[in-house]
Amino acid sequence: MTSSPLTTKPTDLSKEGAKFYLSPQLFAEAFPFHIVFNRNLEILQVGEVLQRVCPKLLVGDRLNDHLRVMRPSVAVDFEIFQKRSRSVFLLEFLHHDLQLKGQMSYDDTQDVIFFLCSIWVTDVSDLAPLGVKFKDFPIHDSICDFLVLLQVRSTALADTQRLTTELTHKQVQLEQALASQAQLAQTAKTQARELEHALKDLQSTQAQLVQTEKMSSLGQLVAGVAHEINNPANFIHGNLTYVHEYVENLLTLVEAYQEEYPQSSEGIQSLIEDIDLNFLKIDITKVLNSMQVGSERISDIVKSLRIFSRLDEAECKEIDLHEGIDSTLMILRNRLRGRSNHVEIQVIREYGLLPTVECYAGQLNQVFMNILSNAIDALDDFNEKRTQAETLLNPSYIRIRTEVFDDNWVCIRISDNGPGISPAICSKLFDPFFTTKPVGRGTGLGLSISHQVVVNRHCGRLYCHSEEGHGAEFVIEIPLRQLAYEDKRILLTNKY
Ligand SMILES: Nc1ncnc2c1ncn2[C@@H]1O[C@H](COP(=O)(O)OP(=O)(O)OP(=O)(O)O)[C@@H](O)[C@H]1O
Ligand SMILES: [Mg+2]
Repeated sequence: MTSSPLTTKPTDLSKEGAKFYLSPQLFAEAFPFHIVFNRNLEILQVGEVLQRVCPKLLVGDRLNDHLRVMRPSVAVDFEIFQKRSRSVFLLEFLHHDLQLKGQMSYDDTQDVIFFLCSIWVTDVSDLAPLGVKFKDFPIHDSICDFLVLLQVRSTALADTQRLTTELTHKQVQLEQALASQAQLAQTAKTQARELEHALKDLQSTQAQLVQTEKMSSLGQLVAGVAHEINNPANFIHGNLTYVHEYVENLLTLVEAYQEEYPQSSEGIQSLIEDIDLNFLKIDITKVLNSMQVGSERISDIVKSLRIFSRLDEAECKEIDLHEGIDSTLMILRNRLRGRSNHVEIQVIREYGLLPTVECYAGQLNQVFMNILSNAIDALDDFNEKRTQAETLLNPSYIRIRTEVFDDNWVCIRISDNGPGISPAICSKLFDPFFTTKPVGRGTGLGLSISHQVVVNRHCGRLYCHSEEGHGAEFVIEIPLRQLAYEDKRILLTNKY
């Protein structure tokens, strides 16, 4: 306090009626910014902190020389102040930037007013220029609380700003990490795809090698057999005409002898009876005829074997497709025939009118071979599980249909009435090494190679229709003329 302290009058603070006085020290602590003035507006006492921050000494001066009322809008007037003890007053210093906010409390015993106030600032940063610190405010001063809140808010704001910056930074880092992760994933994906392609190419090349090896050995074997049979068959076939002629001559001679010498000797007579000359004369012609038929059939077989192997025709040539199919069927004839332990498989040929087709005959024959032997395998397996009655009721067959379509394409359909193929298997049929046959019986290459031959080599299509329990149909479609597809073929062939 700057003058002799005016203290508050006794206050009845307890229920028992005990009186408590606010000591000057406590009063100073509770109201470090107060002003006490009398009816003449003469300032009698000023709070310690307020006096410290005010450049001029206030005590002794008049209130209206230093302050004016900002709120409520009233004049600096003792009586008005006295009446409005409930109002909140905002007073402003006339000569410097300081505002005070508080209430007017009239003390009738001393006829003075206590302006119990605090300095009024709305920003924490305004405190320092005034020379005020938080500790200068009384405890629980609402303005101090407000300032603390403001400070907390601005600290929180600063923290939030810092955190936001950090977060943005982290987000950028995260985005970069995600981008590089995505890039890595993409690279990994591309590499996986490349690997998958490489593996497929490898499998395909391997399949091709195995199949080429298999088929070329088969081709060579067939060609070898055809050649070996051809020579002796030619001897027989070529000499049969002479044999025929010689036998006829001999028989004519015998007849001439018999006419000339009807009474032959006993020895000759018994020899004639022993050899049954009359039967021999009739039968020998039949024997010779059947030998003729047999040797012609051998020639046919040799021709078919040669057509099938077509070792001499590695390039694209115009051929009769039906010849190729027939030669393949000829090779498979033994597997189609009915025997004691094997049900016959009928072959139904529904050949259309086909022109010659430009193709790689040897390779296409391999395709017919693969598809036809698959059909025979399927029918054999099926028949093993069927009763005789069932096979009689529904005999096994392979149907081959050919036709020209779209003017310049040829279609060969090879169907069977075997067990058919389940949808799960259908999607894998043309994969290299896919087989449902036991080890040793199937390599799973037939269809994948056939696919390559038809699609890549002939720019055609190979697909399968099948319904489980209702047989299967393989469809080969190739263009009649290959030259038009030369570019595409080079592209496809280079792929493998
Ligand atoms: N007509 C058919 N009826 C039923 N299943 C068939 C038929 N044709 C092919 N399949 C199925 O397709 C599979 C693959 O045939 P593919 O010719 O490629 O190989 P494979 O016959 O098993 O072995 P190989 O390499 O000796 O030909 C066969 O194992 C079989 O399950
Ligand atoms: Mg096969």
